[in-house]
Amino acid sequence: MKIGILSSGGDCPGINATIRGVGKTAIMHYGMEVVGIHSGFVGLLNKDIQSFDERSLSGILNLGGTILGTSREKPFRKLLASGESEKPQVIIQNYEELGLDCLVCIGGNGTQKTAGMLSALGLNIIGVPKTIDNDTWGTDYTFGFQSAVDIATNYLNEIETTAKSHSRVFVVEIMGHKVGHICLQAGIAAGVDAILLPEIPYDIKVVAKKIKENQKTGKEYTIIACAEGAISEEDSLLSKKKYKAKVASRQGRSVAYEIAEQLQELIPNEIRVALAGHIQRGGNPCSYDRFMATRFGVYGANLLLNKDFGKLVVFDKNEIKAIPLSETAGKLKFVDPECEVVSSAKKMGITFGE
Ligand code: F6P
Repeated sequence: MKIGILSSGGDCPGINATIRGVGKTAIMHYGMEVVGIHSGFVGLLNKDIQSFDERSLSGILNLGGTILGTSREKPFRKLLASGESEKPQVIIQNYEELGLDCLVCIGGNGTQKTAGMLSALGLNIIGVPKTIDNDTWGTDYTFGFQSAVDIATNYLNEIETTAKSHSRVFVVEIMGHKVGHICLQAGIAAGVDAILLPEIPYDIKVVAKKIKENQKTGKEYTIIACAEGAISEEDSLLSKKKYKAKVASRQGRSVAYEIAEQLQELIPNEIRVALAGHIQRGGNPCSYDRFMATRFGVYGANLLLNKDFGKLVVFDKNEIKAIPLSETAGKLKFVDPECEVVSSAKKMGITFGE
């Protein structure tokens, strides 16, 4: 059996541990041939591949990023927009010409959607979920998340010392355009004053009130953690089209600046903005992500052995399992505003701006 592995979409710590988990199991235990495909689906369009043996998969467990490279290529995008695209056909042809028996797609929501579409066209596909956002539907965990949360937590804590010295308000932006899992978890772990998420529209007056309350109790500084996709109550009422146009009108300035400006109209305090940015996706995976990515990879290789294709490896109630790719396509796992985590945060005095 000949297996191709690719990583696609935004990178995250733990991809190499997965490649190693799938590859070593497939080569050493199941006698399979394994090739890596470079730069996600771009490599499959260009037949840009490398062979793996056991040796070449050593020494990468603790390495961040992806040794295969990645891209945000979505081969079905044009097809969706205009009703025609040759890319899926090229991929199917190259898959056959390369003699592949299965393709392992390591990626987030976009990648798994593409994986599901290729599977529907007849390719043998196994999906493995990765993303720092932990927003893939059907799995309780996507590796990369814990590493990102650790970095975001440290970032928030490091901002706190300078905020305290200067008695300032800091608006710290954490990754997560559509979902706020990283911001929520890191915000709680760092003990911030406010967490603003895409899932819970905020009223800026409530955030300003929190700052004033802090001062009344003698706390002269305030840390606000906002996700990239944090949204005000007014904006949440806009149509999708109008909201998109509003975001575009920011001309690259992110939401944290808008929140800081809105706040400055209500309070006299000095306000600063800090963006945690791509360091949240950088560096080496924490031990939990190495552990989970390895298990996901080995489970993926077991699916290969059993020819159990068209599946996504998931972590469900403390167990590694697989679900049909078709079940997860196009869905996101959002923060539930009513969940225990949000309510625990509120008990600690954190406001969500509601
Ligand atoms: O999907 C992971 C993620 O890091 C999101 O949290 C973030 O919004 C986005 O990717 C950033 O993408 P890019 O690396 O293309 O700027």
